Amino acid sequence: MSDVYPCSVIVLRLGHRVPRDKRVTTHVCLVARAFGAQGVFIAGDYDPSVTETVAKLTEKWGGPFWVEFTASPEKLVDCYKQKGWLIVHLTMYGLPIHEVLPSIKQRRRTGMLVVVGAEKVPLWAFEKADYNVAIGNQPHSEVAALAIFLDRLSEGRWVNLSFKGAKIRVVPTPRGKRVEYLGH
Ligand SMILES: C[S@@+](CC[C@H](N)C(=O)[O-])C[C@H]1O[C@@H](n2cnc3c(N)ncnc32)[C@H](O)[C@@H]1O
Repeated sequence: MSDVYPCSVIVLRLGHRVPRDKRVTTHVCLVARAFGAQGVFIAGDYDPSVTETVAKLTEKWGGPFWVEFTASPEKLVDCYKQKGWLIVHLTMYGLPIHEVLPSIKQRRRTGMLVVVGAEKVPLWAFEKADYNVAIGNQPHSEVAALAIFLDRLSEGRWVNLSFKGAKIRVVPTPRGKRVEYLGH
């Protein structure tokens, strides 16, 4: 568990389509990693190019972080619910984040599965979620929704995360690009 969240956090990305979602699904994974989630389950078309891209990035910039495909996302949600995890589905149709976040934070759980969709989200995702959460009620992006949700959930603490086994890290600078190569 990352210490920036009240419990373990895993993301479930529904409806991945080859080739059109490669970039967006990869970005869902990169946001999940950078903001301190443990890993991402991807449902939809099997696409090893996403796992390869994220694995290469994690090898260079550190982890731990994993990405796995699942053939049965509904069963996966049932399984995590049975284990006592909270299911949070991000959707423009849900309740505003500022209204539900206090209640989400109060419900202490072993973990939280954060579900994001692609074009059409199946009804079961709305029904099985403990919370359907809207980041505003306008349509935008799963990448933006996930980033804002994790930022609010962690109260901005994700910025202090450090990544184990990183070969490289950025040295923040007002201009240009500085990096440091670490001895791994
Ligand atoms: C391209 S959008 C699909 C929008 C679609 N009309 C729907 O069912 O929400 C893909 C995903 O982005 C996320 N998303 C988009 N806008 C959102 C919002 N305002 N609040 C929360 N999540 C959002 C949801 O997870 C959604 O499944």
